[in-house]
Amino acid sequence: MISIIVAMDEQNGIGKNNKLLTHLPNDLKWFKKLTTNHTVIMGRKTYESLPNGALPNRKNIVLSRTLKSLPDAIVVNSFEQVKKLLDEQEENFVIGGAQIYRLFLPLAQMLYITKIHHVFNADTYFPQIDFSKWELIKKIFNPSDEKNKYAHTFLIYKRKK
Ligand SMILES: NC(=O)c1ccc[n+]([C@@H]2O[C@H](COP(=O)([O-])OP(=O)(O)OC[C@H]3O[C@@H](n4cnc5c(N)ncnc54)[C@H](OP(=O)(O)O)[C@@H]3O)[C@@H](O)[C@H]2O)c1
Repeated sequence: MISIIVAMDEQNGIGKNNKLLTHLPNDLKWFKKLTTNHTVIMGRKTYESLPNGALPNRKNIVLSRTLKSLPDAIVVNSFEQVKKLLDEQEENFVIGGAQIYRLFLPLAQMLYITKIHHVFNADTYFPQIDFSKWELIKKIFNPSDEKNKYAHTFLIYKRKK
């Protein structure tokens, strides 16, 4: 199964200058809890944006047409090749960025969206979602606090049958 996990602002913004829009420790904890011990799939730019390289305790797959290999991740050079590597019985998380979300959105069965209740000056956006195809199964509102500057909501959607 393919799942998408993303943190976006009120206008679907996801990044700026190859970085995340903000630092929300509560969202990073949520991301870690959901993805640990699973496969994560990302684009080369997102891989390069990670402060310490591949994410620990996860099988990291990086899509790139320019890289041949990486010391800490599996590099694949086409969408078809990634699909062959995935175990359909497992939950495989697509973790961005925009190019990779666009490739996988039509195949995803689950969407884990962290909606950040703010509008940033983003330069990278999540593609439009046709919500008529998705059923909201969980909604958890998190107010801002001393560690998390912006209020945000964890939303879990399942693709309708
Ligand atoms: N808010 C969030 O949840 C979140 C999550 C992840 C990322 N982000 C943000 O998103 C931004 C990066 O997104 P992005 O769209 O610019 O880059 P990206 O999707 O991370 O990576 C794009 C790269 O992936 C490779 N690629 C794309 N399609 C491919 C295909 N069909 N086959 C093989 N390789 C392919 C190419 O690498 P080569 O150029 O090497 O060929 C391409 O340059 C950053 O600002 C990052 O912080 C936000």
